[in-house]
Amino acid sequence: MSEVLVIGAAGKTGRAVTRALLARGVVVRAAVRPGSTSTPYAGASVHVVPLDLVSGTGLPVAVAGVDAVYHLAPNVHPDEVGMARRVVEAAAAEGISRFVFHSVLHPDDASMPHHVRKGEAERVVREVLPTATVLRPAAYHQNLVDAALAGCISVPYSLDTPFTNVDLDDVAEVAWRVLTGHGHEGATHQLAGPERLSVREMASVAGEVLGRPVEAVVVPLREWLEGAGAPLPEQARDDLTAMFRSYDREGLVGDPAALRALLGREPHTWREVLMRAASEPVAP
Ligand SMILES: NC(=O)c1ccc[n+]([C@@H]2O[C@H](COP(=O)([O-])OP(=O)(O)OC[C@H]3O[C@@H](n4cnc5c(N)ncnc54)[C@H](OP(=O)(O)O)[C@@H]3O)[C@@H](O)[C@H]2O)c1
Repeated sequence: MSEVLVIGAAGKTGRAVTRALLARGVVVRAAVRPGSTSTPYAGASVHVVPLDLVSGTGLPVAVAGVDAVYHLAPNVHPDEVGMARRVVEAAAAEGISRFVFHSVLHPDDASMPHHVRKGEAERVVREVLPTATVLRPAAYHQNLVDAALAGCISVPYSLDTPFTNVDLDDVAEVAWRVLTGHGHEGATHQLAGPERLSVREMASVAGEVLGRPVEAVVVPLREWLEGAGAPLPEQARDDLTAMFRSYDREGLVGDPAALRALLGREPHTWREVLMRAASEPVAP
């Protein structure tokens, strides 16, 4: 049975990827930041290892003996490129050729500094391990699910620009396919959802699914900066402000063809993701 190292395993993406791997019989080595209060997805086949991506402490032990590595960086981290280099070099030193880097849709978009860093990280990964696979997911549907269920989706950008958001569980299924299947060496896969929807349209669909009104509201950027953005480091606030401005101008849109082909079925829609979330028991 193969064992996969999942980096950032206690985060939103890492938990989804871990769950997808476990569901298909893969053993997961879950790398978690030392001192973190977040917990990875639990299971008998999950072995937790401490790993600090900033210093690299824990890397040699984390990669020792695994068959593949799934690498992602913490959101808008300033050292994303350094992290990618440390992880891919450790994997290469261990003789691991199966390496997947979780990037983002349109890493070449110069208007968003954190996308540009992902593009640079992709290049570093490929330079060290040409066999690496790159996944470029669109924004996740799951980013807006809780707000929709609570009856109000408020965002600091336009309600009317288009998005091809993707189901994180579809992304995680693709992660399993490329980590354990064949034919993805050196490939780059764009993972965009199957429909173009604005936030206003998402709220309207949510209202239909839930049978109660769901509002769509713009939070003025200044209010976001003084509220949710206030505790963030200045660089993260600047990166996110640039992202909101880009979303204001053009949303974030990709082509769903690759996702469809990789899954061998239609990717899940916003409506399906919401129906699934609405039917799940509420966590205590
Ligand atoms: N959200 C989206 O729609 C979307 C779409 C496409 C791509 N992405 C990309 O996906 C990646 C992951 O996003 P996410 O939402 O899953 O992030 P997340 O929930 O914040 O997870 C990141 C994880 O990394 C851990 N971490 C932070 N600093 C670390 C360190 N120094 N050493 C080791 N681990 C550390 C965090 O630990 P703690 O929990 O302890 O802080 C957290 O568990 C990001 O690079 C993002 O750009 C996201």
